[in-house]
Amino acid sequence: MKKIIAANWKMNKNSKEAIETITELSKILNNSLPEEKEVIIFPSFISLEASTHALSSTPLQFGAQDVYPAKDGAFTGEVSPSMILDAGATWVLTGHSERRHVIKEDNTLVGQKTSFALASGLNVIACIGETLEEREAGTLYDVLTAQLNQTLAKLPTPLSPERLVVAYEPVWAIGTGKTANNEDIIEAHAIIRELLKNILGTSASQIRILYGGSVKAENAPEIIKLENVDGLLVGGASLKAESFAKIINA
Ligand code: PGA
Repeated sequence: MKKIIAANWKMNKNSKEAIETITELSKILNNSLPEEKEVIIFPSFISLEASTHALSSTPLQFGAQDVYPAKDGAFTGEVSPSMILDAGATWVLTGHSERRHVIKEDNTLVGQKTSFALASGLNVIACIGETLEEREAGTLYDVLTAQLNQTLAKLPTPLSPERLVVAYEPVWAIGTGKTANNEDIIEAHAIIRELLKNILGTSASQIRILYGGSVKAENAPEIIKLENVDGLLVGGASLKAESFAKIINA
């Protein structure tokens, strides 16, 4: 199982800037990846197609940061799975905490997006994670259970396990500079692995679980080695090619 290092660029970089960063990244990486790693870049919708076309000969994969769970129709402002595939991307993020907390997406919608995207041929990184209040109230287990159960409620079958990835991103660690400590990460990832077993049975061991939240070149080597950490989802530190390349090589 290869580890996944993913770059979530959020609402940053126009097409020109996206292409410049990816070009620089492929140069630093000599256009090849460490053997045991996969790298996925999530640019904004508007720079997605330009990124995939300009860099089609690199080993990098691409994804969209969001998707709407319908084939087509009257959904102003939304983007369908087939449009994302047509733009040359193969992955999508669902349930990112900024979509849950800023845009107010609930578990039901995140579940619909996850199952529709998978059924439409996209691979999915489904994000879950607790807020500081939830953690301090001792509800970590309940929050992760509710989010994961509803996110994965209607998975298409059969489903190859490499097409579904879960990212654990504690909300209080995202963009704050506060990384969860090793014990917190090990505990949450173990909970998620157990929950995945209840939902998926034996194939749960093949689902990759990523950690995200203030990952940087300095802390990536330690986090990536922790039990049940199968990769990293990186925001701020993925915006510069040099720091992201260090994380890829961690
Ligand atoms: P961060 O963001 O690395 O800037 O904390 C991670 C994410 O939101 O996916």
